[in-house]
Amino acid sequence: MRIIRTIAEMRAAVREARRADRSIGLVPTMGAFHEGHLSLMRQARAASDLVVVSLFVNPTQFGQNEDLSSYPRDEARDAALAADEGVDILFAPDAAEIYPDGFATSIHVSGITDVLCGAQRGPHHFDGVATVVTKLFGIVAPDAAYFGQKDAQQIAVVRRVVADLNLDVRIEACPIVREADGLAMSSRNVYLSAQAREQATALNRALDAAAAVRESGERDGERMLDAARSVLAEADITPEYLELRDASTLNTVTRVDSDALLAVAARVGAARLIDNHILKGQL
Ligand code: PAJ
Repeated sequence: MRIIRTIAEMRAAVREARRADRSIGLVPTMGAFHEGHLSLMRQARAASDLVVVSLFVNPTQFGQNEDLSSYPRDEARDAALAADEGVDILFAPDAAEIYPDGFATSIHVSGITDVLCGAQRGPHHFDGVATVVTKLFGIVAPDAAYFGQKDAQQIAVVRRVVADLNLDVRIEACPIVREADGLAMSSRNVYLSAQAREQATALNRALDAAAAVRESGERDGERMLDAARSVLAEADITPEYLELRDASTLNTVTRVDSDALLAVAARVGAARLIDNHILKGQL
């Protein structure tokens, strides 16, 4: 596996792959790899000739009071894990390479970024994500890019950018990878104390409880939300949000007549965690 730090070298590798008619799969990441990241790499590996993983802790998507400085970083470990997955190139630029002096462009997706994590974290978050992902698409020119369903709103935002800016890339959404007890894997789980780690399992249990209500034949969203709310309350978790929304428009859904996104965010101990389930329109 090659580690590439400059855009010029990355472009040269992309040109070479293109000349050889090789397809390119891109997995954008901020590192601190866990099985969730590795599952994206495996899916990219299975479907592409050249697999590029980007590792860049993107400063523009972090807010003033967020965890940019403490975000877990271990490039050597990440590089070893990526190499084990058969990744061809780890693209790990520094911040000045991506945001040189004078950088002045930002991609803002309106509407769908006003809700859920966009409302909680503020507009800078998805502006930062949309901008860096668009830059990565411009640098790597992938045929397909792989994103985790764990960040469901991020996928909706990226799909919107791709459609609106006519970007020639296929967006692949990959299933959420969980710990044995159901906690969605996240680089931020390392912030959890043993007690908070246990408490955090309530997020997925709450979503499961809502899904069980749906599976009993119920269509009224409020009933599903109630089931989830009581699991969270029992675990002493006050969610930042717990909402049922259309997975692509992110409009509020009150009846589950077609597939709906049930999304939750909460502070648990020192971590801000998110999770979601798709509740099925057809059983
Ligand atoms: P990061 O949090 O490192 O996540 C990289 C990718 O891994 C994202 O697509 C995310 O949805 C996916 N992922 C994280 N946890 C997962 C899990 N438990 N199961 C499946 N997939 C999971 O998301 C970002 O980085 C950044 O916002 C980025 C897109 C790289 C832009 O900076």
